[in-house]
Amino acid sequence: MKEDKYIALLPQVKALCEGEDDMIAKMANVAALLHEEFGFWWTGFYRVASDELLLGPFQGPIACVHIGYGRGVCGTAWKERRTVVVPDVEQFPGHIACSSESRSEIVVPVFHGDDIIAVLDIDSRELATFDATDAQWLEQIVKAMNI
Ligand code: SME
Repeated sequence: MKEDKYIALLPQVKALCEGEDDMIAKMANVAALLHEEFGFWWTGFYRVASDELLLGPFQGPIACVHIGYGRGVCGTAWKERRTVVVPDVEQFPGHIACSSESRSEIVVPVFHGDDIIAVLDIDSRELATFDATDAQWLEQIVKAMNI
């Protein structure tokens, strides 16, 4: 069950990020950990860089570098300050198709205090991979990164 995987992953994330100040290093290892454990299609971070999201550490195929505020799933999660779960990317108006293989997606904002400083974006090649369980655990995982 995926919940068992998340239960095992959370302490690993804490251990990986503990005592580490560099946000990029933490993002790189957490992206690798999630990607390896679950076998997602694309797992990575976009950082907030003034008025846009800028590609950060990731695992998977090459991706678009710039995403505007409110654009695509990532820009929507940033603008609406909430996790966005997309069971079928073709049903999400404005979805940005970095890869035509991607079928479902989840985007989780990364908060530093009240500010969103990045988003965690995960893509799957299957429909409806993500649900409220993923949302809840991934929110805990990004919190445990202590950014
Ligand atoms: N699909 C995302 C763009 C990023 S890629 O999936 C890596 C979106 O619509 O924001």
